[in-house]
This record gives sequence, structure tokens and C-alpha cells, in this order.
Amino acid sequence: MCGIVGAVSTRNIVPVLVQGLERLEYRGYDSCGVAVYAQDATPGLKRARSTARVAELAEQVATTHLEGTLGIAHTRWATHGAPVVHNAHPHFSHGTGLDAASKPGRIALVHNGIIENHDELRAALQARGYVFDSQTDTEVIAHLVDSLYDGDLFEAVKSALTHLHGAYAIAVFCKDEPQRLVGARAGSPLILGVGKDGQELFLASDAMALAGVTDQIVYLEEGDLIDMQLGKYWLFDKARKPVSPAQRPVKTVVAHSGAAELGPYRHYMQKEIFEQPRAIADTLEGVEGITPELFDQQMNHQPGANAARVFAQIDSVLILACGTSYYSGCTAKYWLESIAKIPTQVEVASEYRYRDSVPNPNTLVVTITQSGETADTLAALRHAQSLGMHHTLTICNVATSAMVRECSLAYVTRAGVEIGVASTKAFTAQLAGLFLLTLCLAQAKGRLSDAEEQRHMKAMRHLPAALQAVLALEPQVMAWADDFASCENALFLGRGLHYPIALEGALKLKEISYIHAEAYPAGELKHGPLALVTSSMPVVTVAPNDALLEKLKSNMHEVRARGGVLYVLADADTRIESGEGLHVIRMPEHYGELSPMLHVVPLQLLAYHTACARGTDVDKPRNLAKSVTVE
Ligand code: G6P
Repeated sequence: MCGIVGAVSTRNIVPVLVQGLERLEYRGYDSCGVAVYAQDATPGLKRARSTARVAELAEQVATTHLEGTLGIAHTRWATHGAPVVHNAHPHFSHGTGLDAASKPGRIALVHNGIIENHDELRAALQARGYVFDSQTDTEVIAHLVDSLYDGDLFEAVKSALTHLHGAYAIAVFCKDEPQRLVGARAGSPLILGVGKDGQELFLASDAMALAGVTDQIVYLEEGDLIDMQLGKYWLFDKARKPVSPAQRPVKTVVAHSGAAELGPYRHYMQKEIFEQPRAIADTLEGVEGITPELFDQQMNHQPGANAARVFAQIDSVLILACGTSYYSGCTAKYWLESIAKIPTQVEVASEYRYRDSVPNPNTLVVTITQSGETADTLAALRHAQSLGMHHTLTICNVATSAMVRECSLAYVTRAGVEIGVASTKAFTAQLAGLFLLTLCLAQAKGRLSDAEEQRHMKAMRHLPAALQAVLALEPQVMAWADDFASCENALFLGRGLHYPIALEGALKLKEISYIHAEAYPAGELKHGPLALVTSSMPVVTVAPNDALLEKLKSNMHEVRARGGVLYVLADADTRIESGEGLHVIRMPEHYGELSPMLHVVPLQLLAYHTACARGTDVDKPRNLAKSVTVE
């Protein structure tokens, strides 16, 4: 979703800002822009904006010779106002009066998040003569800061923030103070980067934007405000008390620049699908046995949180997540209830946060999020805490994220940076973390014998090799994708543990190929979706050789009897053969409880190759974002 980069320096900073935007492209955006204080023949605020890709912005910048030592840049994912140039950030204030629009700008600002009271602020500013160029909520902040400016940008921003309701991370500068950058965060992440020479300072929405520029990072906390000048910065907390360096230490954050290279692959999504054996091996590295300490955090801010104590105390699990992470939670429910025998509820975070629910203080609240930034999941966590549920644990792929900081316990998956908007390796890595959690809870409740532990550990160690063997099915999946490319609808069926995998398969297909895809538990077929089945509606069936296979076969007959064409993922030992209207891909093995982690892979490949055949923008599907930092 939206991304921010800003810098105060002594060199021309525009190339660094544009490169930062390139590194943020993976989050998803529909327009972008960069603004500087230009000290050329006509000094003042100057900007370039584009509704095309960052590459086009880079060309504009080069053609217009946009240069400056102080600047901000942004990738926008439209919420208020269409993705058109005049709504793209940075926004400028330009004074008041009839000729306001033609007056040179004074304040330049970029913003992530949503200002909820923007309508009333806009009306008040318009009444004072401010003229608006855009439909965005962001422009309101630029004019508000301008209206409060009296020679001190920091004071003006500080005062402006007291009028804002909603979520924001902002970076702002003023043409009258050409070596000063001010930032603030509330509800959206923001980091400070300290340049190698100690003079150059950066602001960014995530450390990835600064990969290759600096690895010296300070994570701003909720409500923080920062005043930056060349080589110096001052931080203030939400009560506006000065924050000492010990309270927000500079951390060395491993730069992700290498991970962002595409290598021999056509798309990041393809690369990430093929990285799954390594992602799972890394995620499980160092796990020698099942022990609650796996979930104790090194960076834990919450004294007293201790997984062994918590696991012994809790009597149920509440999983909160969005999107693909929600489906990993749905899969984990089957594991938690069948292996650990712990009652488990899985909720879409955006629903849970707004509904009345019955809190149980002995529930373990588990959030699942690859980014650790998803606004709804963070809000759902805080909602659960506000209801008195303080046993919190996250399965997250970003060790430094807000989610890891806000939960007492954590398992940080090591899938590596995921660039493709459609999540793949982060999903299977989450499943690995959730399976470990299941085993730990089973152990804590006395439901895991040593023999069972050994059996599960062996199966987990085999996962990277098993995934590698499944990836070798790619040519067969590509043959399916040829059939799917010309369809407009598809149905996915699964039962039990594989129903969430059918849901994830359908989500992948719709996200990147724009084919309408739905998933059903196969037993529900006769209760509605069977009416849709015709020869032009492919039906994908996840059919491992488990206790439900015979029932699933009956469902498949129901489809064939209506002329439906079946695409079946069967296990090595399942007796289902290809034939008229029945296409079978046989998985190399039978995987027992871990089967969902393997069966999802051909479905990821199916979505990927179908999207390629349809010529869509696989890594950046229309209207979608990687990090959903607004609700
Ligand atoms: C977006 C992404 C999905 C992701 C979901 C939840 O919709 O496009 O790939 O599953 O957000 O994100 P999270 O970071 O919380 O897992």
C-alpha cells in the first residue's frame, strides 16, 4: 500500500528517493511522486508525479532535472480520490485568497493512512480561504500545517496533529526551512534511517525502502513525532516528552537488497513459489524439538510473558488475520482441534474488531500476518486486549514489525521478503509456524507423546524435500493453466483440512488472473454451487488420500454427471485415474497432517501460469496492495 521515503542531506537526494520508491513498489500502488526544495535559478518547492510506474517518474525527474538536498517521495494506493496525478502525493499548500492556486507552495507533505475528520477540516480551511487541488484527505494536512506555520515547522506540525483523527504516518518540509524534515506516526509505521556519514537522515515507511542506503534504523513508536535536521534529530513520544536514544535505539537491520533481485524468474511470485523449500527450511532451522521457548521473544517488551506459563494456562485459541493469513488460520484450526484438542475460533480481523463478542481471559489470541502491519489485524489485536485478553502471540514474517512488538509471544517465520502481492511462501511458512504451535500446545496439555513428537519432527524435516518434489509438477500444472486461461469462472472443492486450501487456491486465482473463483467444502456442493456446474466451469478438487476421500469421490461423480470438468490433485496412493472430463495430477507422496502445505503449491502454480497466459500484471494485480495499512 502507500509508501514514504524522505531525506535531508547535503547531496542531491532525488536518485535515492526514487530508488526508495522502487523498493516500495512491491507494496502495491497506483500513483507516485517526489518533491524537493530546489535551489536552482527559481528556488522553491518542485515536484514530479505520475500515475504510471516509478520508472516513468524516474524519466520525468531526469528530463526536468529535478534536484534538491531535501525531499520526500511517495507511492499512493488510492482511498480518497481517484488515482490521478492531481491526487498523487506529495501535496503542497499554496496560501490563501483568490489567486491561491497560482501562489508558490510553502509546505510539502506525504501521508500514509486515513484522516477520518478530513471533511470538517477541509470545510474549516476552505472557510479561511484555502483552495484545494485534490480530493485527498492528505491535502487537508498540508493546508492545516500551513495555517499553523509561524516560522517553526516542528511547532506547526505538532499543533496540526492535535486536530487529526485517524491513522497517519507523515513526512513534511517547508520551503522556508530548507534543511529540516518533520515526521510523525499514529497507526501507520514510520522509521528513521541514519546515513553512513551520520549527516544524512532518512524517513521511510519501512526499512526495505532504505536497503543499500543505510542499515542503521530507529523504529518510531505509536504517537512519536520527529524533528530532523542535518546530522541531528529529536524524538518526542505521544505525550510530547523528549525520547532518549536509549528508548529508541538505533538498530542494525539486515538490508534486503539481495532478496529483491528477480534472478532467473519471470516474476517475483514465481520466484517466491520456488523459494518455498528454502523458506520452510529457514523457518524450521534450529528447531530441535518441541518446546514452548520457541515462542518466547528475544525482543519482548512485555515482562512476565513466558510461553510455558501461558500455554499451561490457556483453554482456547482465537485466531485473527486477513486474506491469505486468514486461510492459514483456518487450516490451523483443524490441527489445533484434532492434535492439541484445544477449542479454536478463527475470525477475519476486520469483522472481529467491530462486533460484540464474549471475551475469555484464558484464550490465547493468535494473530497471523506476513507483514506485521495490516491495520485491521493490529486493531483486532488491540480490541482483544481491551477486552481483557492479554495472552497474545503472533506468527509473523517481519521481526521488527508493530505486530511482533505488540504481542507478548511470537514465532517469526523466515520466508524472507515477499514481493509478489499474492502471498505464497509467507503462507506456507505461516503453516509451519502454526504446526509448531499446535505441537507445543498439545505438549503443554499432555497430548503429545515422545513418539508422536518424533514422528512430527521427522515429517517437518522432510518438508523442504517434499516441497521440491511437488514443484517438479510445474509442467503438468501448466497444461491445466492452458485450459483455465479461457475461463471466466472456476470452482474449488476440498474437505476437512483441505477446505482452507481450496479457499486459498480460489483466492490466488482470482487475485492475479481476475477469473471469478469460489471455493466450497465439497459436501456443500448440492446446496448451491452444483447449479453453476457446466462444461465451461472447471472444478478443481483437492483430493488427498485421507478419511474423506470416498465422500469426495461421490462429490466428483456429482460434478461429472452434470458435464463438469474436473481437475483433481490426488495423492500418490489414491486410485483416481485421468479420463474423459477428468484431469488428475498425482502428488509424489501422501503427507499426513502436513498435507495442506504441499497441496497448496500446485494451486499457487495454477494461478500463476493462468495469470501469465492471460497477460495480467502478476506481481502487482490491479487494485490490490501487499501491505494493507489502512482499514
Ligand atoms: C493483502 C495481501 C495478501 C495478504 C493480506 C494480509 O491483502 O495482498 O497477500 O494475505 O493483505 O496481509 P498480512 O500481511 O496481514 O498477512
